[in-house]
Amino acid sequence: MSIVVTGATGQLGRLVVEELLECGVDPAGIVATGRSIERLTELAERGVRVERLDFSAVPEAVDWLGDGDVLLLVSGSELGRRVAQHAAVVDLAARSGVHRLVYTSAPAADDTALVVAPEHAATERLIRDSGLRFTFLRNGWYTENYLTVFGQARETGVVADSAGDGRVASAPRAEYAAAAAAVLTGDGHEGAVYELSGDAAWSFDELAQEFTEVLGREVTRSRFTPEAHREALVSHGLDEGTAGFLVALDRNISDGLLAVTSGELAKLIGRPTTALAETVRGWA
Ligand SMILES: NC(=O)c1ccc[n+]([C@@H]2O[C@H](COP(=O)([O-])OP(=O)(O)OC[C@H]3O[C@@H](n4cnc5c(N)ncnc54)[C@H](OP(=O)(O)O)[C@@H]3O)[C@@H](O)[C@H]2O)c1
Repeated sequence: MSIVVTGATGQLGRLVVEELLECGVDPAGIVATGRSIERLTELAERGVRVERLDFSAVPEAVDWLGDGDVLLLVSGSELGRRVAQHAAVVDLAARSGVHRLVYTSAPAADDTALVVAPEHAATERLIRDSGLRFTFLRNGWYTENYLTVFGQARETGVVADSAGDGRVASAPRAEYAAAAAAVLTGDGHEGAVYELSGDAAWSFDELAQEFTEVLGREVTRSRFTPEAHREALVSHGLDEGTAGFLVALDRNISDGLLAVTSGELAKLIGRPTTALAETVRGWA
């Protein structure tokens, strides 16, 4: 039996592979896949099997996925193209006799207005319809999503957003990876749908306060309306699509869609999640 990981060239997938190795999984029992096999060389040198998999050109059959394997499908990053891409991987998994498919989804994917949810909900549906055993990891926000905001605050002394009084129950990406490794290697996760989040939800006022403390300079918060936020982002060089997407996410935050603290991530990793303050201290 192998554990097969897609998106191993990406940040989460790579962390999952590292976590599996750290847990003592035999490198020869891990298959790390990505669009660019060259970017997996270092893992290959450590004994991990590396294979090319492009979600847009999934072969009919592959010799590295088969009966009894557990497959982690890390959701792709090409927004708008993901349902068809994920469908191709799910079909391959079903044809290959995969024992269980683990999918990284989004919070409350099938019952939320979260702007990124529709592709995840559609993917969850097609996994359910495939008849495969599955586990859904509905990952909340990574704290690292605010690393760029930290860099801007360092330069300008300002956190600019349109998230209002919304809160974000984020956790470090590595902790979602640890949860994935636990689910890939452990028993009793068949059919489970985990709503994963950090243990505590923070506000953007608190984010600016953490930045102030870590940077040793005052960081103030500019609360924009969604329209003013979009204009500000475009005036800083973002294209309309990206600016609209970021403003929509802040609206989702303002509406409380990323504030839910389930405790399920801490339960899966067997320890409390890392607080915002501690993660931000590591960025200084
Ligand atoms: N929870 C959150 O806060 C959050 C934030 C951002 C994204 N996400 C979602 O979580 C996923 C993992 O996050 P991440 O931080 O690891 O993102 P990431 O570093 O951008 O990694 C995305 C991975 O998906 C792979 N991928 C994209 N399109 C592909 C395709 N057509 N065929 C094969 N592989 C493809 C990428 O391959 P390449 O290296 O070849 O590009 C990369 O390995 C993202 O893809 C996205 O769906 C979640």
